[in-house]
Amino acid sequence: KVYRASTTAPVNIAVVKYWGKRDPKLNLPTNSSLSVTLSQADLRTLTTASCSAAYPASEGDSLLLNGEAADVTNARTQACFRELRRRRAALEAASPALPKLSTYPLRLVSENNFPTAAGLASSAAGFAALVRAVADLYELPDSPAELSLVARQGSGSACRSLFGGYVAWRAGSREDGLDSVADQVAEAAHWPEMRAVVLVASAEKKGVSSTSGMQQTVATSGLFRERVATVVPANMARMEKAIADKNFEEFAEVTMRDSNSFHATCADTYPPIFYMNDVSRAAVRAVEAINAHAGRAVAAYTFDAGPNAVIYYLEKDAEVVVGTLYHVLGDTEGWKREALSGLKASMSLDSGVAALLKGGISRVIMTAVGEGPQKTDKF
Ligand code: DP6
Repeated sequence: KVYRASTTAPVNIAVVKYWGKRDPKLNLPTNSSLSVTLSQADLRTLTTASCSAAYPASEGDSLLLNGEAADVTNARTQACFRELRRRRAALEAASPALPKLSTYPLRLVSENNFPTAAGLASSAAGFAALVRAVADLYELPDSPAELSLVARQGSGSACRSLFGGYVAWRAGSREDGLDSVADQVAEAAHWPEMRAVVLVASAEKKGVSSTSGMQQTVATSGLFRERVATVVPANMARMEKAIADKNFEEFAEVTMRDSNSFHATCADTYPPIFYMNDVSRAAVRAVEAINAHAGRAVAAYTFDAGPNAVIYYLEKDAEVVVGTLYHVLGDTEGWKREALSGLKASMSLDSGVAALLKGGISRVIMTAVGEGPQKTDKF
């Protein structure tokens, strides 16, 4: 007999960034963070977990990622498997009639619905789907918050992908990390008008991984200490209120300031780390011009550990935000025709900014706030 469970998990993009570990082994962060979960119609990982007494023990656990065998011997994946097995074993000890799934080899098959070349953080969706799928396979009673403790050990940002909508990861203060969990600040339905357009900067291999980059920042940046002590706590409080009030202007200012603060600590790392490039900076200029034209913040940029721009906006402002970008980028791959029809460009961008975007953006992804992991029977 083969036991099986399938789930999807979403990508999330932080508006208050996680950057820095207080405990690299347990993957505990130096600060809390907050993200928006993006729609799985556009960006998701689909993972099927199976196990069986008939799977040869000699082959061990395995993971097929987009059709290729991936390494499962790394400490992070091992920590997730170990933690999930421990929880299943506790159930089996309590109910001896249960099959001993915790002793069987695990096979995972995982697929993303977006191009790997997009350079989007797929580790968050990947580890969230892995943990959710195995938890479902093992029929664990654990809540998404409890599972976030496990996913966190795979990749910090993954703990936020166990929920839909607007999600906080509380840094916590315990040494064992048991209070370093994700929680849902608001459901997607609370503020469903939130949209995002991702400007994918022409595929260039990522320079410094976030894991190593943040360690260098923690070790060398003085500015980072200021960020952790005062900037992030203030941004978290403002952001939670902006979301509760559905105040986009406030949401936008905090989002942009927090991204700028994070990239400033990267520049203050010694030697410095640069994730944003000329094309990223052109995207910042474009958003500033759009907001100036509108007379208020209608768009908010944010950048992770790479050059891609994620621009949040509200559905009602699609005309000025998406219309302006579409006018500049033209037939770049990824535009949704139905979402574009009738959008005029109400303004034009500075020619230097336009040229950088036109030359440097290879694809766009139009998406929106979305739901958390979904069980599926599509294997
Ligand atoms: C800039 O979650 O990828 O995207 O915990 O080492 O796997 P590890 O790091 P990871 O870092 C994400 C950093 C970020 C900001 C964020 O998502 O909050």
